[in-house]
Amino acid sequence: MLKLAVLVSGGGTNLQAILDAIDTGKITNARVEVVISNNPGAYALERAARCGVEGICISPKEYENRAAFNAAFLDKLNSYEVDLVVMAGFLVVLPPEMIAQYRNRIINIHPSLIPSFCGTGFYGLKVHEGALARGVKVTGATVHFVDEGTDTGPIILQKAVEVCEGDTPEVLQRRVMEQAEWKILPKAIDLIANDKVSVADGHVTIKE
Ligand code: GRF
Repeated sequence: MLKLAVLVSGGGTNLQAILDAIDTGKITNARVEVVISNNPGAYALERAARCGVEGICISPKEYENRAAFNAAFLDKLNSYEVDLVVMAGFLVVLPPEMIAQYRNRIINIHPSLIPSFCGTGFYGLKVHEGALARGVKVTGATVHFVDEGTDTGPIILQKAVEVCEGDTPEVLQRRVMEQAEWKILPKAIDLIANDKVSVADGHVTIKE
């Protein structure tokens, strides 16, 4: 049984997709142990509570400096003894020590086809604003392992989504969520939970 910690900051629709996939059997052999948010008002915490999953808050604002937060965050995560950390819209930079300790055991969902529209400054609606400004005809979402960079870790799954005439950033964001994010994030978790994902030299192999 793969034990998960899901890190959130906002609405939690990706968390909901994970919880629903576990509930319907689309994800097997996995369980969400804890939902961790930096934002006490995150609706994702409400979603966790409704599904009987423990939700906790921890924020850099509660600590005198980032080093103190990083140490407390890592200690708190370690106390749950999870196998996989899932970043689902988490907007706080992870402690380097956490990334090192959980090498290839932290995944992230990014709302573009990496390496397009990613990296520093590309988050939330800004990703879709960039895609529309560039005039791409196809965008999508990416699930990748997290390394020390920003959106630079080994890619696990991607799914393309059409950009339609007249799309606003909000409309495009919703389509990418519905058609890509909410499908490939649960799929990636199910593959990992069933030992079908391996990483070598920065490249991911999937055994279907
Ligand atoms: C999603 O668009 C995801 O791609 C990005 O942050 C957003 C989180 O949305 N990383 P939600 O909190 O899962 O609804």
